[in-house]
Amino acid sequence: MFERDTLSIIGEGENPYEDSVSFPIFQSSTFGGGKEYSYSRCSNPTRNALEKAVARLEGARFGFAFSSGLASINSVFSLLRSGDTVLVSDDLYGGTYRLITKIYQNYGIKFVFVDMTDAENIAKHLCNGASMVFVESPTNPMMKIAPLPEIGLLCKEKGALFVVDNTFLSPYFQNPIEFGADIVIHSATKYLSGHHDTLSGIAVTDREDIAEKLNIIAMTLGNCLSPFDSWLVLRGMRTLPMRMEKHEENAKSIARFLKSLPEVEKVFYPGLPEHLGHELCKKQAKGFGGVVSFTLKEKKHVQAFLKGGNIIKFAESLGGFRSLITYPLTQTHFSIPEEMREKIGITDRLLRLSLGLESDRDIKEDIMKILRD
Ligand SMILES: Cc1ncc(COP(=O)(O)O)c(C=O)c1O
Repeated sequence: MFERDTLSIIGEGENPYEDSVSFPIFQSSTFGGGKEYSYSRCSNPTRNALEKAVARLEGARFGFAFSSGLASINSVFSLLRSGDTVLVSDDLYGGTYRLITKIYQNYGIKFVFVDMTDAENIAKHLCNGASMVFVESPTNPMMKIAPLPEIGLLCKEKGALFVVDNTFLSPYFQNPIEFGADIVIHSATKYLSGHHDTLSGIAVTDREDIAEKLNIIAMTLGNCLSPFDSWLVLRGMRTLPMRMEKHEENAKSIARFLKSLPEVEKVFYPGLPEHLGHELCKKQAKGFGGVVSFTLKEKKHVQAFLKGGNIIKFAESLGGFRSLITYPLTQTHFSIPEEMREKIGITDRLLRLSLGLESDRDIKEDIMKILRD
């Protein structure tokens, strides 16, 4: 078995044109000849190469690439039936919350929002009968860590599907299949592609029965990733290991720096030893990732951050080469009702910083300029 660094380079397997070092883009909607490929909504060689590469990095056998991260979650939720109950992280990406509350709750599917850091709590809810548990770890935006091995065991015991949104750590740092996850999804828009130039999503599984169902769902919903976008993600993945190391190095440095500033109230980053999920994250992942959330003491400093700096840009995303500051209240999490936002900790003074690949010294200077100018 190859190391993760090697799999990022050659994970897609055999290239059909030996002399082409980069995997070709098969920009064709259809294929003649009645051989392996027929129509690109069903399968396409470039998309298949990407699916194989991510699946291998995650330690899974099957992968499906979708037109966005949300499209991959939508496809996974399409496995549900009316009458099902799903346990879902109470702190999660606002778009997933919107998908649940605006679409899936209308179909007679019950979603219970639970604190996934507490295995006892999950066990209690599982006893009431749930067919799926959907977990983010770390969560977006509060960076909470869920005990994946324990949840994996509980799901197995109760026969519930265990789904992990692994976007924040990428397959370089965390592989939930090891802990019993049945499906792992990614917004490949983020670290996997890494260059702020494509929207994409992935779902992988090591279970053949689930792969068969996802295959039918993917070709039926028609929300597959285009050949060109598949190629962009594949290209981004070549540098995933180096990028993740640098994102994390910057995040560790900036988290400590933010903690030292009088304007900052609290810093949420699992790489800080005092973070509640630090030890757990260390056990179940190989790194802590590149996203740091923090609260400021005064609203005026929030406004200053939202104007952006010379390096830090105010924009809604994460996991790319450029450091981005996001305001969950009005951006990623605006669909979450105020009461729930307050319970989770998404206040008007919370910011989420995705560290890019710049020099940490320059990022620190940029933060000082933002706060003190
Ligand atoms: C944790 C997480 N999951 C899923 C998504 C949705 O991904 P996309 O924007 O590619 O649809 C996001 C987007 O920010 C996210 O942060």
